[in-house]
Amino acid sequence: MGQYLDSVPFSGIIRIRDMMYAVKDPFRLDQGDVSFDAPDTVKRAMHGAIDANHSHYVQTTGVPKLLDLLVEKMRTVNGIPIGGPEEIMVTTGGIHALYIVFQALLEPDDEVIIPDPEWPPCAGNILAARGVPVPCRLHESMGWRYDLDELASKITHKTRAIYINSPHNPTGGVLTRQDVEGIAALCRDRNLWLLSDEAYEDVVFSGGEHVSAASLPGMYERTIPLYTFSKSYAMTGLRLGYVAARDAQLRDRMKKVLFYTASNIASVVQYGGIGALEGSQECITAFREELQQRRDLFYAGIREHGAGVLSGEPPRGAFYAFLRIDPSWKPERPSATGSISWSMAELLIARGRIGCVPGVDFGSQGEGYIRFCFARDRRELTGALESMAALFAGSAALRIS
Ligand SMILES: Cc1ncc(COP(=O)(O)O)c(C=O)c1O
Repeated sequence: MGQYLDSVPFSGIIRIRDMMYAVKDPFRLDQGDVSFDAPDTVKRAMHGAIDANHSHYVQTTGVPKLLDLLVEKMRTVNGIPIGGPEEIMVTTGGIHALYIVFQALLEPDDEVIIPDPEWPPCAGNILAARGVPVPCRLHESMGWRYDLDELASKITHKTRAIYINSPHNPTGGVLTRQDVEGIAALCRDRNLWLLSDEAYEDVVFSGGEHVSAASLPGMYERTIPLYTFSKSYAMTGLRLGYVAARDAQLRDRMKKVLFYTASNIASVVQYGGIGALEGSQECITAFREELQQRRDLFYAGIREHGAGVLSGEPPRGAFYAFLRIDPSWKPERPSATGSISWSMAELLIARGRIGCVPGVDFGSQGEGYIRFCFARDRRELTGALESMAALFAGSAALRIS
């Protein structure tokens, strides 16, 4: 029996999802899914693949055309010196890529430094590979970025890799070029791998810059860049991601995990990915502009209706509002977990029909915060804000920084 799996926790997001199914007419601000639909280029390519009977086994690491397009994309968009298609693996979404990388990279008890707060499947996948996640705090006062000295202090003789995620889920923090350079220098000096999860590479708001760690001089050798079609092309349910590695031995190990967990990634979905990359990229700009407007709408609403109970700075990237809960707020019915963020989530869900995720689910530094996804359509956001206004009507005047 795989007893060690008993120590791998489920994400609270699963509990929240179950709670949301019990709510009539919910506002689904809990899950990180965009309300847009995949562009026509994706749908046409998938229709074409079905009509052409592309329903058979395909190459384990991805169909050649998709891999060629990904080489081109990673070279030109991300600035990564990819050698060729053999360096890329297509996966069943970014979460599967994480699983593959950690299984291939880690020996039991190897440590991986991860952000705190952080998206729960990151730590879950490290634990599933019998590694040890080592949280390093992101500071709200620094725009949810690291103190690099603090990050360096987490490195031990057992550290195998640093995992970064910029733009960041759940805080929306975006690492600066200097941050990424500083982390790269640490990895070079201490001989570590750098796993760079760039799921939100296309969601950086005006004035911001996304820096791919593997594009820095000499860094691709030790960096594993990881991407997904989920967020950039609204393909969350189709499950398509990809990951690259220069090291042939690591790739060989990753390929085994890929083969034994999936054989190959769904053929028709891969053709959807080809359609996404061959088609106009204007949808990405349009999504981003709309997301920025939704962010501004949501934060204006929180200022107006949050009664000072919730506050925070609008994020620089990704599509989550990670809001501070006024520590003086006293829940009528405290959560059995004793956590203020669970008390707030239970109130918002049960009495306000508003989906959200308690900050503590993202790590100990997330306690006292609550996450909302503002990638939902404007009507859903407005509905949630109105419901919040009614819920907090009796509370002190809303305060937002
Ligand atoms: C930080 C981060 N990485 C990776 C992913 C992977 O997404 P998917 O498995 O849908 O490709 C997500 C999804 O929410 C995410 O938030």
